[in-house]
Amino acid sequence: MAHHCESTSLVISNSKIAIIGAGFSGIAAAKQLCHHNPIVFEASDSIGGVWKSCAYNSTKLQSTRKNYEFAEFPWPNRDDPTLPSKLDVLDYLESYAKHFDVLKFIKFNSKVVELRFFGCSETTELFGNAGYYWNRPLLGQPVWEIAVQTNDSNCLKWYAFEFVVVCIGQYGDIPKIPKFLNNKGPEIFEGKGKVLHTIDYCKLNKDAASQLLKGKKVVVVGYKKSAIDLVVECAQANQGDEGQPCTMVVRTPHWVAPHHWLFGLLFFIFYTTRSSELLRKRPNQTVFRTLLCYLLSPVRRGVSKFMESFLLWKLPLNKYGLKPDHRFEEDIASCMLATVPEDFFAEANKGNIVFKRAAEWWFWKEGIEFTDKTKMKADVVILATGYDGMKKLKTILPEPFCSMIEYPYGMMALYRHTIHPLIPKMAFVGYIESVSNVGASELRSIWLARLIDEKFKLPSAENMVEKTLREMEFMRKTIRFYQRPCISTFEINETDQICEEMRWLSKASRQDYSQKN
Ligand SMILES: Cc1cc2nc3c(=O)[nH]c(=O)nc-3n(C[C@H](O)[C@H](O)[C@H](O)COP(=O)(O)OP(=O)(O)OC[C@H]3O[C@@H](n4cnc5c(N)ncnc54)[C@H](O)[C@@H]3O)c2cc1C
Ligand SMILES: NC(=O)c1ccc[n+]([C@@H]2O[C@H](COP(=O)([O-])OP(=O)(O)OC[C@H]3O[C@@H](n4cnc5c(N)ncnc54)[C@H](OP(=O)(O)O)[C@@H]3O)[C@@H](O)[C@H]2O)c1
Repeated sequence: MAHHCESTSLVISNSKIAIIGAGFSGIAAAKQLCHHNPIVFEASDSIGGVWKSCAYNSTKLQSTRKNYEFAEFPWPNRDDPTLPSKLDVLDYLESYAKHFDVLKFIKFNSKVVELRFFGCSETTELFGNAGYYWNRPLLGQPVWEIAVQTNDSNCLKWYAFEFVVVCIGQYGDIPKIPKFLNNKGPEIFEGKGKVLHTIDYCKLNKDAASQLLKGKKVVVVGYKKSAIDLVVECAQANQGDEGQPCTMVVRTPHWVAPHHWLFGLLFFIFYTTRSSELLRKRPNQTVFRTLLCYLLSPVRRGVSKFMESFLLWKLPLNKYGLKPDHRFEEDIASCMLATVPEDFFAEANKGNIVFKRAAEWWFWKEGIEFTDKTKMKADVVILATGYDGMKKLKTILPEPFCSMIEYPYGMMALYRHTIHPLIPKMAFVGYIESVSNVGASELRSIWLARLIDEKFKLPSAENMVEKTLREMEFMRKTIRFYQRPCISTFEINETDQICEEMRWLSKASRQDYSQKN
């Protein structure tokens, strides 16, 4: 482990606000807070976040441009129905950052390794003090110290700020690796074959990636977007006589979507409009709305059934045993829908992709083994098992905040998905998922900037905690896969509430904002 040397003095800066991370969320926050001249600490040497660090050569946006857009900065060719490549997405972010002149705030190669709060050290005081802290977001004196490690040195530099905005992302950086019993982990296989996570695969250039997969028995673990894109790259590297089929280990089949204009249209009408939200329950709804949702539930189920029939007609899910056991709408409400590349089922039809359903699996010396006692030989096993965003946060947050952060249900209890009422002077941008992730981060950055500028007041800390926990309880009860902070079925309503709370814009402009997103 590298030893840090701590510089003795604190770096004095004119900035009151620190932003950690320069992905889409950090850049959005920097734009909205630019009048405070923030410092943005970015661990890598460029902006873009996951689009730079954990996208493959073939990665594309999963949605159309309009659904991944800053309301203040439309894509140049926003009506183009094709899916933009990762380079297009990075260009778009760069144009936004240049247009609003935010690059000047960023310190690259600057990794935040520790945060210290020195505003109030007693845990017991936090609840009482939280209201005081949120009433005046900028107190006129620093309360957070940030330790930053730069690439060119092992030494830490300490900075002090009045407010910290954490935008380090829910994905990327720290892989989620499955746990195994003794003698069933990768160590017994590694002499024979290779085990890696998609985060390592992303670092390979096109040739090296193809070389790794070509002519090898490859097993990809996972059936979400990273896994789906990866097996297609694997199938493409294995064309011809010497090619080998690539096996995909599927634990939970979720609904997947084709990039097809009719699906896009149906999805837009049934799931993203104001009237479509009428059909769906949302947190903190009135008794009247609860009754309305109950009466409309046959329509809601009918729509879900219709979408399922469309997908079963369009994609060979039955043929490959990939028809989910749950309803389509349950995947939408949990932000679990992945778009499959055009070649995915075409390659499966050619026999280049093989599916293996398995609730559990582990390694043996020549490959992997499943609960049904079957064994599969492998040369390469790639874990497309996702990322541990919570662990990433915990590496920098100090106690007692670190323990508070994943309460309850292992999810973050964030008011407006942006502040933890009991973590003073800190906000989190990018900890929300929906149909439009960029719009969601942008709106919350606007909300945060207005909060910091004292354009509106928050409810008391007690009320915020209570409201947030009530929302989470609702989500836990109504959403089958409650693993992500997903608001896709009530995003327009949530946008209205946020706009109202921050007393922002006329009703007409607010509607315009809702519709753009
Ligand atoms: C491969 C991939 C593709 C995706 N595609 C889509 C899509 O098509 N549509 C969609 O809606 N969503 C997509 N997502 C979700 C995506 O996470 C969000 O859309 C969005 O890009 C997240 O941006 P972010 O800024 O919140 O986080 P990130 O992009 O993760 O950015 C976080 C930044 O913080 C930096 N950082 C981390 N820790 C530190 C530290 N300690 N100190 C300093 N800097 C730090 C990182 O280097 C990084 O630059 C995708 C995610 C992945 C992984
Ligand atoms: N735009 C793009 O093209 C693109 C590309 C890649 C990623 N992304 C986005 O990036 C985010 C992360 O996606 P991701 O695919 O990397 O991760 P993910 O969504 O967290 O999916 C992880 C997958 O691994 C499976 N898994 C985890 N542990 C397992 C185990 N022990 N055994 C078997 N299976 C296991 C999960 O199965 P269960 O469902 O059973 O848990 C799931 O299928 C998502 O938001 C995604 O949309 C987008």
